[in-house]
Amino acid sequence: MARKRVYSGIRATGRLHLGNYLGAVKGMLALQDKYDCVFSVVDAHTITVPYDPKTLRQSVRDIILDYLAAGLDPKKCKLEIQSQIPQHTELAYYLATIYPVSRLEDLPTYKEKKAQYPKYVNMGLLYYPVLMAADVLLYKGELVPVGIDQEPHLEVMREIARKFNSMFGETFPEPKRFATSGQYVPSLAGGGKMSKSIEGSFITLSDDLETIKKRLAAAPTDSGTLGGNLPKEGGVANLFMLLKLFVLDDVYNKFVHDYKDKKIRYSELKAVLADAIYKELKPLQERRRRFEQNPKLVDEILEESKAKCLKIAESTMQEVREKMGLV
Ligand code: TRP
Repeated sequence: MARKRVYSGIRATGRLHLGNYLGAVKGMLALQDKYDCVFSVVDAHTITVPYDPKTLRQSVRDIILDYLAAGLDPKKCKLEIQSQIPQHTELAYYLATIYPVSRLEDLPTYKEKKAQYPKYVNMGLLYYPVLMAADVLLYKGELVPVGIDQEPHLEVMREIARKFNSMFGETFPEPKRFATSGQYVPSLAGGGKMSKSIEGSFITLSDDLETIKKRLAAAPTDSGTLGGNLPKEGGVANLFMLLKLFVLDDVYNKFVHDYKDKKIRYSELKAVLADAIYKELKPLQERRRRFEQNPKLVDEILEESKAKCLKIAESTMQEVREKMGLV
């Protein structure tokens, strides 16, 4: 039996941060050993919000380097740059013809982006989930390692797959999200999730120990004398959530007890957390340097992956065009 196909992608909006790493890349790493994986830099999704065409190509390259640095192994998985496989946009258009506009207008991400960029409400933004469905369905992907915030998009993907199958015959699987323990990584700024678009909320994969310490130092805490149970939200809750993701249980429990006993020292917690985060990132940073110094190798990896991706993509498209009566 053929191995299950896995697809995931990250937008090219600057270097990866801990949220991407724990929520998506860790899932990718876990899956590349077992499944037939395609991991993408989704540049066509990136341009749905204001961006700089002069730096986009470098941002795409940065994510590829971060993927390789994190341990995605081109011998095990295919690395894709979305815009280099034109079948994504072709399939997206065809899928758009079977999906209602009203459902897309109702999606939380669309509403958020509309509020964030009221002067930039473009067709691509509305179309975003359809292109995302096309990304995964193009490869007949069954598992999608992404953060929990992407669940509404996964639902659209499944609806589109079902609708296509019922209209034109069984073609696509209904993809499921693959969750990791780091599927929700909190912001350092006190509320919400870690995000590249919120200054002060993130730690990038290339931060050195000093930078990590500085970023954590700015994270809000409390007087440390409240005692009792940990708060459920806010700066302190977020620090504890991060701590749990990076240190062993007994270290975590020690700080929980300190909090309960009103003797917590946040400077100590932040120092332990900074060290733990840096320990995880240091090998990635060393690996990234090696790839940066060997751009030819990276180009070869990308070319080889691209050829494999184009083959799969074109085979799906031939099937789709035939089933839809286009050829
Ligand atoms: N919307 C995803 C995000 O913001 C990125 C993405 C685009 C994606 N296409 C995808 C993720 C396909 C998984 C599969 O994180």
